[in-house]
Amino acid sequence: MKNKSVLITGANIGLGKEVARQLALINETEKIYLGCRNAQKADEAKRELVSLTGRAIFEIVILDVSDPASVSAAVSGMKQPVDALILNAGGQGGKEPLAITSTGMTNIAATNLLGHVVLVDEMIKAGKLNNEVLYVSSEGARGIKGVMKKPNLKSNSVAEFVSVLDGSFSNPKFDGSEAYGYGYIKYIGALWTSANARKYPQIKFISISPGNTSGTAGYDNLPGMTKFLFKYLLAPIVMPLIGMIHSIQKGAARYVEALGNANLKSGMFYGSKDGKVTGAMVEQGTIFPEFRNITFQDNAYEALHSFIK
Ligand SMILES: NC(=O)c1ccc[n+]([C@@H]2O[C@H](COP(=O)([O-])OP(=O)(O)OC[C@H]3O[C@@H](n4cnc5c(N)ncnc54)[C@H](OP(=O)(O)O)[C@@H]3O)[C@@H](O)[C@H]2O)c1
Repeated sequence: MKNKSVLITGANIGLGKEVARQLALINETEKIYLGCRNAQKADEAKRELVSLTGRAIFEIVILDVSDPASVSAAVSGMKQPVDALILNAGGQGGKEPLAITSTGMTNIAATNLLGHVVLVDEMIKAGKLNNEVLYVSSEGARGIKGVMKKPNLKSNSVAEFVSVLDGSFSNPKFDGSEAYGYGYIKYIGALWTSANARKYPQIKFISISPGNTSGTAGYDNLPGMTKFLFKYLLAPIVMPLIGMIHSIQKGAARYVEALGNANLKSGMFYGSKDGKVTGAMVEQGTIFPEFRNITFQDNAYEALHSFIK
């Protein structure tokens, strides 16, 4: 493994914490930076990870990926370059996914994308990123039959992507049935990652989906009974029986297997096979060819940067 040091965003819980645990169990891993927004939660996760792995290789980096200034400060504070970045923080955008942040993006868009764009740009500019970047996308980016429709965009222009990011795309606005635009946002993230692969050929950029994964805090913001139903009945008991969900260990193992894997090509997005959300991974352009369109990729890149001053 050539990635001796890795920075993981959203590392205090869920997939981010589990991937930190799995990477620490690889002898060649020398340093893991836990990118977290809350110092207390980060301390607890660090203590637990040291005790689980027996390795004191974790360092906390405080950053809020919905706040560009916080990410810039975190990059300035990093004393050493890192070999790999895992852009994992994200999810459904908290209790108010469509609230507009100070940068003009919705909460859900900012959480999954904004700080990651700043992090990549500034790490590269500062010469602090050596080898590779994994952007954590989702099968929602190409649609999941019976669960989430595939993104239905007309032009994939810069303006159309901006309208997804600022929440004006759908009128009335995205709602719970569209997971507040989650699939669209992870689609834009995968396109942006591919644009980076062409812009920075010396660094490997891939998108990866962990697959539908249990044991994370992903269901915590669902309303009352729906949360109860998913978190305690469907996700742990019913969905595994029909191959609709896998364990957090399996979800995080997808990241570990992707890092430094020469079979995965820069600029591509890997996730479950068509119609699946677990199991073997395939390049997602075979399912949704839009991912390979370099004009769409460049438009996503430009749309995202229009929110960064
Ligand atoms: N679980 C799945 O089935 C699944 C499927 C496909 C893709 N994904 C993607 O996988 C990634 C991890 O998801 P998960 O299921 O592990 O979710 P999770 O358990 O909810 O963990 C999300 C992590 O992101 C952090 N985070 C959220 N907003 C942040 C912000 N503004 N700044 C910094 N950190 C922030 C959270 O920190 P706090 O604790 O401070 O909130 C937490 O550490 C997400 O990008 C998600 O979209 C998950």
